[in-house]
Amino acid sequence: MKNFIAPSILSANFAELGKEVDNVILAGADIIHFDVMDNHYVPNLTIGPQVCKSLVDYGVKKPIDVHLMTSPVDELITQFSDAGASMISFHPEATQHVDRSVELIKNKGCKAGIALNPASPLSLLDHVLEKIDFILIMSVNPGYGGQKFIANSLEKIKRCKEIISNSGLDVEIEVDGGIGINNIKKIKESGANIFVAGSAIFNSDNYEDTIKKMKQEISAE
Ligand code: DX5
Ligand code: ZN
Repeated sequence: MKNFIAPSILSANFAELGKEVDNVILAGADIIHFDVMDNHYVPNLTIGPQVCKSLVDYGVKKPIDVHLMTSPVDELITQFSDAGASMISFHPEATQHVDRSVELIKNKGCKAGIALNPASPLSLLDHVLEKIDFILIMSVNPGYGGQKFIANSLEKIKRCKEIISNSGLDVEIEVDGGIGINNIKKIKESGANIFVAGSAIFNSDNYEDTIKKMKQEISAE
């Protein structure tokens, strides 16, 4: 499966968001990870559909990967797909009807993902795996950038990969939280192929250098 680096703009300079996104794309970003927090499902507040639309109107062509850390989710699914999102994930505990929310994403023409918190079991994927395009495994508790990677996430990624392989389905694994040059290889070896990194990229002096090093770590020898 192809690997993708997805910088999380949560750690970008919001006063210069368009330029920041241009810069990470020039530096080699494959996907733009867009963290939506509502001060309800998580104790932080970020950006909404208008910001997504502004980036699309500004000319951002890479896929925008909207990670909803909100409750409820359905109205925002509609708004973000209308605003130009390509991928939308949500946390199953945050919606009353998981299947309906997945259907809504698919009907809007976006890739659908289920996001699992560190303590959320993989069994939440039962009955929905065949309908989704990717699983977002959180390797930190959602709410903030710059947290430490939770080590037992690796085991969970491996088990998730086994479930997908056994199913014969084509579902991608995205991992989000605490990823950097030093641990990305292990995360890939565990079975992930989409790597979200916020602080490791945006807090570095040279985005291109950081993304290049990440790609080197995950490229097959
Ligand atoms: C956390 C967000 C992440 C976060 C990752 O709730 O979902 O996408 O921005 O940031 P880092 O890479 O700094 O852990
Ligand atoms: Zn995220």
